[in-house]
Amino acid sequence: MSDTLDTRMMARALEVARTGFLNISPDPHRGAIIAQGEHIVGEGYFAHKESQDPEIHALKAAGEQAQGATLYLILEPAYSLGEEGTVAQIVAAGIRRVVVALRDPNPNVNGRSIQKLKTAGLEVSEGLLASEARHLNEFYLKDMLMRRPFVTMLSAMSLDGKMATSMHDSQEITSAPTREYVHQLRAQYDAVMIGINTVMHDNPQLSCKALRGRDPWRIVIDSQGRIPLNSKVFQRSHPGQPRPPVIVVTADDLPDERLNALRHAGAEVICCPDEDSMGHDCYPRVDLDRLMLLLNRKNITSILLEGGGTLRAAALKAGIVDKVQFLVAPKIIGGAMAKSPVEGEGVSFVYEAIDVKSMQWRPLGSDLLIEGYISEL
Ligand SMILES: NC(=O)c1ccc[n+]([C@@H]2O[C@H](COP(=O)([O-])OP(=O)(O)OC[C@H]3O[C@@H](n4cnc5c(N)ncnc54)[C@H](OP(=O)(O)O)[C@@H]3O)[C@@H](O)[C@H]2O)c1
Repeated sequence: MSDTLDTRMMARALEVARTGFLNISPDPHRGAIIAQGEHIVGEGYFAHKESQDPEIHALKAAGEQAQGATLYLILEPAYSLGEEGTVAQIVAAGIRRVVVALRDPNPNVNGRSIQKLKTAGLEVSEGLLASEARHLNEFYLKDMLMRRPFVTMLSAMSLDGKMATSMHDSQEITSAPTREYVHQLRAQYDAVMIGINTVMHDNPQLSCKALRGRDPWRIVIDSQGRIPLNSKVFQRSHPGQPRPPVIVVTADDLPDERLNALRHAGAEVICCPDEDSMGHDCYPRVDLDRLMLLLNRKNITSILLEGGGTLRAAALKAGIVDKVQFLVAPKIIGGAMAKSPVEGEGVSFVYEAIDVKSMQWRPLGSDLLIEGYISEL
């Protein structure tokens, strides 16, 4: 079978995997194609927790035509010992050849299913469109390999690199299609995270208005727990919907009265101080690195870090950012005191700047989306 045909089939498996629900966290995106030469005879994807493995869906659709066919998978199948397991059913259906984009790094799998297929006499090849499969499953891979959430730093800014005016106005820098895109993005992440100054200046709701979108956790980094109780982050996205899940992260134990008031407003409070970060104002800030471990234990596998500049700078310095997305609007704001997307101290020399890899860009309405990776899995 030609490489081009294999590549075409694997590209279809990736496309099928993307049709799953927007957020299936903490599970990975999976897609399966069964083909007899050029003819697709079965397809399957992982839709939600209760659904069967995509390989089983594809086998059922293929029926007798699975005999002697090729199975294309973006992720190694789940491992199980029994005759009812996915691998056993692939073998029993008479599949002759399996093409897998990516090994599953889950310690319960990690090559064992591939080995089982080979032992049963199937021809197995790995690595086709692996990079595409890795990107599709970057949240899952970060969770499995590092037990930390995948963090994407998002900034909306003007052409001259300002994310707010000197009066702190950052409303509607970007166009309506871009703001819609941000809602779609939120639907894909487990949590959205902002600093307390953004709450104080903008009072965003951080809701998710995308079709089929579920409300992500709203996380506010707030050393002293000074978030106003009537902040919009505590409000429902739509009347009748459940209260949005909110986490306020402090760096100090709050008095019981304040703690109870925050809980009553709907917040879970996590205290996570960085003891080495005592500033001239004599209180510690939040330990962002340790916070990632705590959030991962709550099954939060992806975070959209929406700002502001002080928190973005601290997150980059703490090494917790994996990917960056800049939404650039065709506007010039100007002003020496106007805020830029990454504040903090910055680097002293250009050679110390953070390199962004695998850069890509595309238009979004009248704006431009520029994205790339700080660290690649
Ligand atoms: N265009 C955009 O994309 C966009 C998005 C968001 C915000 N904004 C704009 O950004 C501005 C606010 O940004 P900002 O830089 O002033 O503040 P920020 O990043 O929203 O919040 C920073 C604050 O978070 C708290 N914090 C606690 N632990 C921290 C840690 N480890 N590292 C860093 N901060 C920690 C600190 O306050 P405590 O010490 O009190 O805890 C710190 O001052 C507003 O003007 C808003 O309009 C623009």
